[in-house]
Amino acid sequence: MSAPVRIGSFELSAPVLSAPIAGFTDRIFRGIVRDFGGCGLIYTEMVSASGWIDGSMPPERLRGVATEARPLGVQLWDREEAMLEEAARRLVDLDVSVIDLNFGCPKKRIMGKHAAGATLLRDPSTVGRLVAATVRGAGGIPVTAKIRLGASLETRTAPAVARSAAEHGAAAITVHGRTADDNYGVPCDHAMIAEVVAAVPVPVIANGDVADATTALQTLRATGAAAVMVARGALTRPWVFREIAAVLRGEPAPPPPTLAEQRALLLRHHAAMVEQDGDPIGTILMRKFAVRYLSGVVGSRAFRDRITRAENAAEFRAIVEDSFPSDWIEDQASAAVDQLPACG
Ligand SMILES: Cc1cc2nc3c(=O)[nH]c(=O)nc-3n(C[C@H](O)[C@H](O)[C@H](O)COP(=O)(O)O)c2cc1C
Repeated sequence: MSAPVRIGSFELSAPVLSAPIAGFTDRIFRGIVRDFGGCGLIYTEMVSASGWIDGSMPPERLRGVATEARPLGVQLWDREEAMLEEAARRLVDLDVSVIDLNFGCPKKRIMGKHAAGATLLRDPSTVGRLVAATVRGAGGIPVTAKIRLGASLETRTAPAVARSAAEHGAAAITVHGRTADDNYGVPCDHAMIAEVVAAVPVPVIANGDVADATTALQTLRATGAAAVMVARGALTRPWVFREIAAVLRGEPAPPPPTLAEQRALLLRHHAAMVEQDGDPIGTILMRKFAVRYLSGVVGSRAFRDRITRAENAAEFRAIVEDSFPSDWIEDQASAAVDQLPACG
């Protein structure tokens, strides 16, 4: 077995990380991932440092960060050194495990109006200054940088950006193997992630299209990265981390939850959202998660269409029962539903 991966002073329990996903990796989803096990580090969704400091950011963005289990990484985005330094100081007070900086967001609003996210990949020295400012505020908490291959197809600056980030104190670099111009249909460029691995003395975490143990192994072999990060694959299969972690330890992957367990988790996830946000808001916010449950199962396509129109908790539960009747799904079960995460 290879040596554990270290991000500065923080040691990963497994070389597989849960990605920041805006609108998804909230407190409840992070709890589900944590309860399934196998994940070395879970990140929040991206948080605007300026928005946090000037009070314009909705406080829900940081819900759970003060109190939930560790390890926990918080991702910040900004282009102002002073804001990042101050936000990092606040995260020290919250005792988070790792602070990540977003240099990969391709959204027009972030790249254009705010000149942040992936736009900063055009300018390795600014990335370095932003990392250094965050490190100053972080008081020894490791700071990581999440980048793409470049700001556009023509400017593939990832090795230079990664070098600048590492020289200014980044303890690890995550690379999503696409430029900001590429859509998800473009395959990840593993060779260029390997160039980043060669360019920096710190661990590189490879990201993009890792959805199971097979793709994790392929990505690690093709890139030479120290670890992998999973985003979209975890939304449909939040137990993917324990599968990848087991296979990387040389053990067989544990079986996925039964369909009955997955159905029970869907209902518990919804109940937790309603408890947190009330009804109907909790139900409406749950729709985007619900469409990812039980995919591939008979009836799941019709379920997806219907659940996106659920207006309240009672309707939501009725659609689940109608689409996946409990007596039908119990036939498919082989394990106790109690073993599933509680979604607290
Ligand atoms: C809906 C959505 C929201 C995302 N939000 C963030 C974010 O807040 N911060 C970030 O660094 N990346 C974000 N990403 C990018 C992912 O973290 C990841 O880099 C990308 O999806 C590739 O990984 P995957 O193939 O495992 O999905 C987001 C991706 C999606 C699909």
